[in-house]
Amino acid sequence: MKILALGDVSGSCGVVAVEKVLRKLKLEKNADFVIVNGENSSERGGMERSSVKRLFEAGADVVTGGNHSLRNKDIYSMLEENPMLLRPLNYGDSCRGAGYVIAHTSYGRVLIMNVIGQIFMDPADSPFTAVDRLLNGLKDRYDFAIADFHGEATSEKAAFARHYDGRIHIVFGTHTHVQTSDARIFKDGTGFITDIGMCGADDSILGVRSEAVIGRMVSRTPERFLNADGDARVDGAVFTLDPSTKRVVNAESFSVYTDR
Ligand SMILES: [Fe+2]
Ligand SMILES: [Fe+2]
Repeated sequence: MKILALGDVSGSCGVVAVEKVLRKLKLEKNADFVIVNGENSSERGGMERSSVKRLFEAGADVVTGGNHSLRNKDIYSMLEENPMLLRPLNYGDSCRGAGYVIAHTSYGRVLIMNVIGQIFMDPADSPFTAVDRLLNGLKDRYDFAIADFHGEATSEKAAFARHYDGRIHIVFGTHTHVQTSDARIFKDGTGFITDIGMCGADDSILGVRSEAVIGRMVSRTPERFLNADGDARVDGAVFTLDPSTKRVVNAESFSVYTDR
């Protein structure tokens, strides 16, 4: 079973890039299931119904989120209506929507969860406590488990992946918008990468117009962060999971580029 994951989609430039490449990418990589992090897919920041809808139409099976998931009220009803759209699991039970879904595939029942980190991030419940509770509660209701760990600190993502080695079969990081070159397989079979990167304007700072970010940092001018445009990169990873052993046998990252 091949799982394809795409990093944080940044603004309409990122959405258009995903629309352009995902179908082809899916065929090329022989992907059975696609997870896309859509937390920044709205042009006004965060996510919105129309941007998430476009990601599903482009080929995403599940759209995950992060610290920007709830920024636009427009997305709230969709979080409640569409089980394939996730927000962080450890935002707690009072938060709209759900942090996990069990998808039925030809290989079996796949549990997908979206978890958010606590280090250098806004307050959230412990990802470990929330995930322990989830896994214990779902025990025999899934065959494979996948986590999108949305976090800033590399150590926290690695600790999470190693702690759940062999129990969560694929762990990939999102949020930093910068892809790491550490795709690997742990001893009990979990496939891991610290961060899969971003889908958005290549000539940018993390998808945002460089001048705005530099302005804030250099002259302390309160510039508005507008999404950059132009040629785009689509970063992600592909994990090959052997359904009989429940071990990842291959984990690799990729980046593809599309013209404006
Ligand atoms: Fe992001
Ligand atoms: Fe984020």
